[in-house]
Amino acid sequence: MSLKFDFNNMFSFSVGEHGVREQDIDKILPEAKLCAGHLKKIIANPQARVKLNLEWATLFNQDKEKIAKIQKLGNEISEKYENVLFLGIGGSYLGLKAAQDALCAPYYNEFKALRKKSARIYLEGNNLDPDTLQVLLKNLNPKKTFVIVISKSGETTETKAAFALVETWLKKGVGKKYGRQILAITDPQKGALRERIEREQKKDILSFRAFPLLKGVGGRFSEFNMGLIHLAIVGINISELFLGTKEMFNRCAQDDILKNPAYMYALLHTILYRQYAKSIAILMPFSQTLKSTADWYVQLLAESLGKKYHRKIEVGVDGAENWLMDKESLFNKGRTPISAAGTNDLHSIQQNNVEGENNKVITFIRVEQFKTDLKIPGVGDLLSGKSFSSLMHLAQEATEWALVSQSRPNCTISMSEVSAYNWGALLFFFEMATAFEGELLNVNAFDQPGVEGYKNYMYYKLGKPGIAQDVANEIKTHPLVKDPKYIL
Ligand code: PA5
Repeated sequence: MSLKFDFNNMFSFSVGEHGVREQDIDKILPEAKLCAGHLKKIIANPQARVKLNLEWATLFNQDKEKIAKIQKLGNEISEKYENVLFLGIGGSYLGLKAAQDALCAPYYNEFKALRKKSARIYLEGNNLDPDTLQVLLKNLNPKKTFVIVISKSGETTETKAAFALVETWLKKGVGKKYGRQILAITDPQKGALRERIEREQKKDILSFRAFPLLKGVGGRFSEFNMGLIHLAIVGINISELFLGTKEMFNRCAQDDILKNPAYMYALLHTILYRQYAKSIAILMPFSQTLKSTADWYVQLLAESLGKKYHRKIEVGVDGAENWLMDKESLFNKGRTPISAAGTNDLHSIQQNNVEGENNKVITFIRVEQFKTDLKIPGVGDLLSGKSFSSLMHLAQEATEWALVSQSRPNCTISMSEVSAYNWGALLFFFEMATAFEGELLNVNAFDQPGVEGYKNYMYYKLGKPGIAQDVANEIKTHPLVKDPKYIL
């Protein structure tokens, strides 16, 4: 079995009045069963999956030939180029970073022996800070660099800005055929990047190779779609990863919610949020290599469940559902995710976790077997002869104990090792838990309208044509107030 989910410390028998009681579960169970049935119905229906953005749930079933092609292209890129520069942000970045850190050797870029035959990986276009990209482009050799730009919409400012710069750099360094060193991953039909691909390919068919993103897979749910080429380049076995994902899919498909790990995760967090005011979710893997997976989860939870309005479901004459924002039903809620890592953050956030406001649930990820181990040398010291991994496990157990002793709910996901199989299962576990929590809260977990606010403001200030009149009016009538009296 890929993962185990231990939720003992979520209950009142462990953490007293701050924990879930058996009767809380009995109370929510009928509603939870309806939610599970609803989700199951949508996932089983290919049209509904695409329309409602749940196609991610069956990505492990992707055509084997297609996967083999991706794996082959990844090998070719790795053999031919020293560096691969990925450009993307949000869901078009965090999954890659999480995979890179979890599944590749630490210090992968620094040491050839660790990379074996694979290319160095650089992830950019995920910030507008000019300093990092500047340094990178000054030091990379464009002739030895392959560029992969990922943007589902093809319109995202950060990615667009970085890509414009990288293109100029590539053109200058490589010459006219620079487009052959570019792969673009975007929507199959629309967006500025898609239009660009079509134009470039008309001029040179080998230029701007493209991978169309599958329909119905939102950015933060797209690691097993847009992230596959990255996995192939660094030599991860995609089939192995999909086996783990499939195992978790099957475990989450069972009807008994009490035996369904992802649904129990969502259910207990929902009870603790609704009834016990636990509004902060801290994900703390006790593994340095899973810290970026916790960062990936932050986006998943924040964008999926932090919503202004409830969802309104309209059913058409053909029985197909349409999910709308119910502007008459204000929600304005959502648990706040925080990523941390053990043991680093035991010397940081842990003080607040144990003694600060009791408004959090901490989820640990425990790795039973690390890839290597180290024994502490010497004799006579408390630590002499102990292994790092045994201390890591002890630290995790000690952290659980410290929280329980102060009535702080927490739970632990454990995995035998950080492998492609287990990591695939882990991501799917969180995706299913998030989708199910969306059902319990009755919000659309697959849109992110709140992200538009800053984008609209930037577009307005940049003079983008076509800004909606009501958006422009809102910005004009509610400008930021900067009274110098309040600036010291
Ligand atoms: O989950 C999402 O859909 C978003 O976070 C996007 O991934 C993010 O905004 C980047 O968008 P795009 O891939 O269109 O550039």
